[in-house]
Amino acid sequence: MKYTAVEHYADPSFSDALIAWQQQHGRHALPWQNTRDAYLIWLSEIMLQQTQVSAVLGYYARFLERFPTLRDLAEAPVEDVMAQWSGLGYYTRARNLHKCAQRVVAEYDGVFPSDPALLADLPGIGRSTAAAISAFSSGTRAAIMDGNVKRVFARVFGIDTFPGERKTEEMMWLRAVALLPEQGIEAYTQGLMDLGATVCTRSSPACERCPMQTRCVAFATGRTRELPVRKPKKISPEKHAMMLAIVDGGQVLLEQRPPTGIWGGLLSLPELDGHLLAEDDDVPAADDALLLQAVGKFGEMESAERLTTVTHVFTHYKLHIAPYRITLARRRQMAAEDGYVWLDAAKLADAALPAPIKKLLLELMGDGKAAQQRMDF
Ligand code: ADE
Repeated sequence: MKYTAVEHYADPSFSDALIAWQQQHGRHALPWQNTRDAYLIWLSEIMLQQTQVSAVLGYYARFLERFPTLRDLAEAPVEDVMAQWSGLGYYTRARNLHKCAQRVVAEYDGVFPSDPALLADLPGIGRSTAAAISAFSSGTRAAIMDGNVKRVFARVFGIDTFPGERKTEEMMWLRAVALLPEQGIEAYTQGLMDLGATVCTRSSPACERCPMQTRCVAFATGRTRELPVRKPKKISPEKHAMMLAIVDGGQVLLEQRPPTGIWGGLLSLPELDGHLLAEDDDVPAADDALLLQAVGKFGEMESAERLTTVTHVFTHYKLHIAPYRITLARRRQMAAEDGYVWLDAAKLADAALPAPIKKLLLELMGDGKAAQQRMDF
């Protein structure tokens, strides 16, 4: 038998527990409660988007003094609306509020529709805000999903993927719809908001007072601190390059890099071809045959010594450079147009080299102190 998402996630005991808790411990005297007036409810929901109740209270009262009805708001100049909003932040909300008021007057004769889908088509009203307005003003069974609800769900159900990710958010919406009570949508919706704001807070949840404690996966597994999962940091990729520092007679062999790409147009060390090794910081030693072949282009190899790996951090990735100090028994003559030059150690400081390569070579060829001084100028 195939289950729908609603059947799969439904659990009437969730809303029973939440409603009972809201009635006893939730908030009941906020200025936008105990009314079915959609104007008063809509205004509060817009002000409360990304803003705490304590910050909203004063603005809400002053706003309603200046714009007692939806028509007053719709007919006011937008500058007056902005002035009343000034200090609340996220000013797009105020512009949309004004536009929304004008549309409700023009399209619905000044009466907000009760259908959440129609509400969500108005400026500044998303799916969650539409559900809240509809639930509070007409008792419609519709699901909310704001940051507080995501936190509660992530903890109670042990959801350990980032809630900002599309798949996780979709799954949370499915759960939210499945968990809606048959009766008491107002207390249930307010209960979710109250629980998130007063008990299941971000940094120090009061689990001892939580009506969900016995069913909370995060509580049972000691993961309230880890859930919800924070936005994953983009991990910067790590790249590896083996480079040849071929040193001969007080000179080092440098290669002109192509004009574009990293270090475009600069001189740098020749790289060991095709051996940009992935993932691992611990670059394995190049095998002798590989080195012999690579160096063969420039002369007859006498010795090779693996030097300490140098890590250079670019904005988008880390480059681990494994340098090899190579000495030659005999140098091969090369034409300048091949893009290679033999550079005197004394000229390194002023050469057009990438900073990490210059540093590496100055340490390798000059004495360390002199190299440091040159770098400082
Ligand atoms: N946050 C969003 N809507 C709210 C409401 N109705 N009461 C308290 N906080 C809220």
